[in-house]
Amino acid sequence: MALPKINPTNTKAWKNLEDYFKTIQDLHMKDLFAQDENRAHSFSITWEDFYVDISKNRIDKKGMDLLLDLAKETHLKEAISKYFEGDIINETESRAVLHTALRAPKTAKVFADGENIIPEIHAVKEKIESFTNDIVNGHRKSYTNTSFTDIVNIGIGGSDLGPAMVVDSLQFYKNHLNTHFVSNVDGDHVNEIIKKLNPETTLFVIVSKTFTTQETLSNANTIREWFLKSAPNDAIAKHFVAVSTNIDKVKEFGIDEDTVFPMWNWVGGRFSLWSAVGLTISLSVGYKNFESLLKGAHKMDTHFKSTDFANNIPVLLALLSIWYNNFFNAETEAVIPYSQYLNQFATYLQQGIMESNGKSVDRNETPIKYQTGTIIWGEPGTNSQHAFFQLIHQGTKLIPADFIGFKESLHGNIDHQDKLISNFIAQTEALMNGKTDINDSAPYKVFLGNNPSNTLFIKKLTPESLGKLIALYEHKIFVQGAIWNIYSYDQWGVELGKQLATNILKEILGDSSSKNHDTSTQNLIKHYKS
Ligand code: F6P
Repeated sequence: MALPKINPTNTKAWKNLEDYFKTIQDLHMKDLFAQDENRAHSFSITWEDFYVDISKNRIDKKGMDLLLDLAKETHLKEAISKYFEGDIINETESRAVLHTALRAPKTAKVFADGENIIPEIHAVKEKIESFTNDIVNGHRKSYTNTSFTDIVNIGIGGSDLGPAMVVDSLQFYKNHLNTHFVSNVDGDHVNEIIKKLNPETTLFVIVSKTFTTQETLSNANTIREWFLKSAPNDAIAKHFVAVSTNIDKVKEFGIDEDTVFPMWNWVGGRFSLWSAVGLTISLSVGYKNFESLLKGAHKMDTHFKSTDFANNIPVLLALLSIWYNNFFNAETEAVIPYSQYLNQFATYLQQGIMESNGKSVDRNETPIKYQTGTIIWGEPGTNSQHAFFQLIHQGTKLIPADFIGFKESLHGNIDHQDKLISNFIAQTEALMNGKTDINDSAPYKVFLGNNPSNTLFIKKLTPESLGKLIALYEHKIFVQGAIWNIYSYDQWGVELGKQLATNILKEILGDSSSKNHDTSTQNLIKHYKS
């Protein structure tokens, strides 16, 4: 039932990779290209509208084969089947991990607790569709009988980052509705959003899997109070809808059962944008586009599930990431989209990747002695070229980077697009080749190069291609967690801070019973209250 529990460092492949690393660590990628004129071709994959070039990496065919051996020895194939088949792979929470079922077709059969969950998923999708159409077309009215103009998504973490990133990325496809996101418990956040709203024409979507999250409930309550200053009590049911697994708590808030969109325990928060958590996406770009997003993700699921590892995009990107993280000791990874639309992509990935794989105890419940979760960061190019690229080119750290670009611009401005793509291609060329010209020998002008990158060149940013891209990173997370022998789908590490904040809040509000703090913490509380 559970995932295999193999310490990757005890495998033969790991030992072979350590030996291989010694032979390749000083080799320059320029030499790898010189030795193999077919390298660009044999280290690239064309799949659907994706062209993925992994040739600019510090590895040759032998090394790739060793990484594939690692996948084999850690039983990755078996793990992938368990993931898709709904086994309880999130053992520490006794849950299956089935976000992939959310984008499976109506004809599929996926079982959780012995029950086929596909009909239920599609029933909720139909509910999302008709609700979306009613709001977008103005059939569903506000309490003053006007059409809605604004949508506010109230949620945090996975109940915010996914929808916010997708709505921003697909703004080209947006309809007339204005969308806003409130997440932080910082009251200034909610108040700045409120300033822009007319209560008569605003719909609030409260998204919380648990419906107990402090930030989301505080924001929802603040908004409700503000709303009730001008609206009658019975208007709540018309203006507030919710997405949650906790139907009782939602009803307590005053939301009509008809406008509660259910989700399920087998969907992790950070992988939930495909469920009703994506309601704001559907409202913002229309249900058809939401469906296309899901369709793209499903295509990537099929690719991941059924493609040989040697040509499997998520598997290869995951293995390369392990290569740098565990053998080169790379500290971070950058994700650089050459599209302003993907401005929030790296922030979104931070939760997916770091909340999932930031673990230091393995699946045998033993402390881990090797590096796990990668640190992810990034900003769109070309802006980032004028910000942090200096350090990637000439700093002392090795920073593997994913470059994501689109062949076509959405507004079709070819002059800008040619310039954008020239930069996109030039950066990976510069990172790899560097510049060690002997005629220009000032040491500070030398670029050593040999900085690895992957290039994901996609035809066009569409809901479908975005769905593929997000699912690609989801599966990369899975592969890395499976090989590192960790539990990727829990997040116990966020609990302690929540508990301590609850205690400190009590003290701030005057409860003197729990004063068990170090002196620094005590002083900070005193300083706040003074
Ligand atoms: O930060 C922890 C976390 O549990 C995330 O995994 C989740 O996405 C977020 O909080 C929000 O939780 P909820 O949807 O239950 O409000």
